[in-house]
Amino acid sequence: MKFTFSFLFVLLSVSSIFAQNNYGLIPMPRNIQATTGHFVLSKDTGIKIPFNNQEVSNIAQTLANQLRNATGLNLRIADNHILPSNKSIVFLLNSVQNQTLGNEGYALSIKKNQIQIRANTSQGLFYGVQTLLQLLPKEIESDVPIKNTVWRVPCLNISDYPRFAWRGLMLDVSRHFFTKNEVKQYIDRMAKYKYNVFHWHLTDDQGWRIEIKSLPLLTQKGAWRVPRTGDWWDRAIPQEGEAATYGGFYGQDDIKEILAYAKERYISVLPEIDVPGHSLAMIAAYPELSSTRKNYPVNGGWKFYEQDDNSLDPSNPKVYEVLDKVFTEVAALFPNEYIHIGGDECSKKFWRQNPDCQALIKKEGLKDEKELQSYFIHKLEKIVESKGKKIIGWDEILEGGLSPNATVMSWREMKGGIEAAKQGHPVIMTPWSKCYLDLYQGDVATEPKTYGLSRLKSAYNWNPVPEGIDPQLILGGQGNLWTESIPNLRHAQYMTWPRAMALAEVYWTANEQKNYDDFVGRVGQHFDRLDLASTNYARSMYEPIVVSVKKNNNGKLTVELDTEVKGLSVYYSTDNTFPDYTFPKYEKPIELPKGNYYLRLLSYQNNKAVGKIVSIKTEDLEKRVKK
Ligand code: ACM
Repeated sequence: MKFTFSFLFVLLSVSSIFAQNNYGLIPMPRNIQATTGHFVLSKDTGIKIPFNNQEVSNIAQTLANQLRNATGLNLRIADNHILPSNKSIVFLLNSVQNQTLGNEGYALSIKKNQIQIRANTSQGLFYGVQTLLQLLPKEIESDVPIKNTVWRVPCLNISDYPRFAWRGLMLDVSRHFFTKNEVKQYIDRMAKYKYNVFHWHLTDDQGWRIEIKSLPLLTQKGAWRVPRTGDWWDRAIPQEGEAATYGGFYGQDDIKEILAYAKERYISVLPEIDVPGHSLAMIAAYPELSSTRKNYPVNGGWKFYEQDDNSLDPSNPKVYEVLDKVFTEVAALFPNEYIHIGGDECSKKFWRQNPDCQALIKKEGLKDEKELQSYFIHKLEKIVESKGKKIIGWDEILEGGLSPNATVMSWREMKGGIEAAKQGHPVIMTPWSKCYLDLYQGDVATEPKTYGLSRLKSAYNWNPVPEGIDPQLILGGQGNLWTESIPNLRHAQYMTWPRAMALAEVYWTANEQKNYDDFVGRVGQHFDRLDLASTNYARSMYEPIVVSVKKNNNGKLTVELDTEVKGLSVYYSTDNTFPDYTFPKYEKPIELPKGNYYLRLLSYQNNKAVGKIVSIKTEDLEKRVKK
């Protein structure tokens, strides 16, 4: 009875601590057991690692470097024989595998006099370190020493492991080029949220970005286009004699450097060579590979589908010879067991007009051009498999019949993924409305121009395993950053964070543990960390949402608002000035006075303005009236 009573008491106090403090961790770990007290980093703290293990030593060194940068403390690293356990951060590899933790899990125990991270693998230890860093004060994100901070972490026990083995982010470096160092920065931030796949979209109509030594024109010509800014698809075509000066590519040594950088962060790199569509940059280099055989420039953001042939010719044996060369070098460079071969949005217009393609359809007894694409993908799968790799393709590779060993990346929502899983194929879920990081995340009036909408809440509130589908076949998911409207790294960060925090939690945390309201609270804490780390992000989740605009009988507009985050106060102006907390507070739908030409909105949380002022022209609101 006594035991039961005290046990209950501990349970109650643990859960009440937990209720008050979720520690701001993203993604939320499986199990957190709070205890009391703190471990405080000091000049006497050491990092204790297993004897003679280089990988763990590297993890410890990276941790020590980050701690030194922010705290100014120089933590000594030594193996078990030398360093006392007291006051140490101790790394332990299990000698007997812990089945629950698996390959990526870890157990983190923080006591007043010792921090212990235990795992089956060094990857697990790495994730334990990421959690530990998030438990330290936010100033730990600083690159320069911050004085007057007590470097303390709360005592607790965490045991944690991911829901999915595939947790990816895709970066499109074709539509806009990102330098080697920018790619590293992107990868660095991914690792902090326990992502483990960097999907590198290396080729598209707007640039070929990977050096293929046996096909030098791919980068000599295919990596460069005439410089343009302005709205994508509305840009001017090249002038006579204009030089193609925008672009760039990664030499094979650059790629090896990025692969090593990613590996240190337990991120595998998935290269994508997008064929047979989206191939204009390749065709610009080798015009004989399209079925029109014409010369086209690399696209710089102008509309081209109707007149330019961006599809490889599946009836041309030369295409397969060239692809064999490409995939020989790609397979040799990238250790990943998979290569992504694209397969999406292939225009068949010029295949229809080409006699060789039509003859091939007849000869092979194919029904149509969709089956011709499937014929191409089947042949390509054999090429890729001959290099010892497996293919992944966008869900269009289902059309006309899936290749025998293909893994499907489902982007046109989950339909393709469901169909592939029903056929027994592995699937990576990236439904566009949840996972496309290039979409608007706030009101169109407040964001740089793009298309579609995917708010933080929709990135968070979805389940990659559809009803009735074998969860074993769902490898996991990704966030995809297409970069047509993303010309620089700062904007890439703005579009990625915090939606990629939401997706990190979708792919890591148990579905039943997810809680959006709790999550956005933690996101707010991470914004402070990103500020200290000079990483850009969007505060759009705080900005008011216009849910409906009605036209009244008196001709005035009534605007109804909502917010994505609970507990915000929204203040507004209808006199074309900038609102603050002294302005009317939104309590019921706003009737706009006649003559008003802007509705401006500003959110407050805990008496502090958060997010941008949302300014929407009355004429734009008028267009939102449901007819
Ligand atoms: C895609 O968005 N075309 C995969």
